[in-house]
Amino acid sequence: MALTGTFLITFLIVHAGINACIFLNDGGATFKTFAHFMSHNWIVRFLEIGLFAGLFLHIIQGLLLWAQNNKARPVRYQYNQPSKNSTWYSRSMGILGTLLLLFLIMHLNHFYVGTKIALYSGDQPHDLYKEMQEIFSNQIWVGLYLAGVVALFWHLYHGFQSAFQTFGLNHKRYTPVIRAAGTGYAVIICSLFALMPLAFYFHWIS
Ligand code: HEM
Repeated sequence: MALTGTFLITFLIVHAGINACIFLNDGGATFKTFAHFMSHNWIVRFLEIGLFAGLFLHIIQGLLLWAQNNKARPVRYQYNQPSKNSTWYSRSMGILGTLLLLFLIMHLNHFYVGTKIALYSGDQPHDLYKEMQEIFSNQIWVGLYLAGVVALFWHLYHGFQSAFQTFGLNHKRYTPVIRAAGTGYAVIICSLFALMPLAFYFHWIS
């Protein structure tokens, strides 16, 4: 889980970085150049297979881990105060992940499926910037995207440092640094993603 999670963490840096080009307020010109490169370069296309395989593996591993945990303790504790030794978000990684999966189905349906169908059928390429403008003019979609980003924040906030712990990196000196890096990562990535629908909705960019 830690390996596929780290891979997905890296993907989100690239994804947020490219999409943040919309904030240049140049009518999407820079963003479209990068988006075009990403959808046409064969190395990126090959990596995309890895991305979806990684995503699929991460979900399957999560389900297996959940089943394993349940099997290890079929009889519940009579006395249990989980808040004494763990945080609510570390115990809710499965629920947060499920919310993210629902978010992803909506998201890929908005920006991925149609684009790929157009690419392979030789249709007019989709203008992703215009599509974002259209989708984020609707407050329901904006609300659902913001909810997805909140789920993503807690998932990453715990997942980042948890991955390092799984790799065996648990040390008095380094763990606080890893925690701080994880917090910085989750705050920056999620703020960027949250600003995207808001920027279109409130016409901060055009
Ligand atoms: C909330 C702000 C977000 C916006 C505005 C956004 C926008 C887009 C757009 C326009 C695309 C198609 C082309 C591209 O830029 O790559 C895309 C693809 C994709 N997005 Fe997002 N995205 C957001 C957040 C997320 C999040 C939080 C995730 C994952 C948890 C995610 C996962 C993906 C995936 C897997 C693809 C398809 C793969 C790819 O095109 O490389 N996105 N997104």
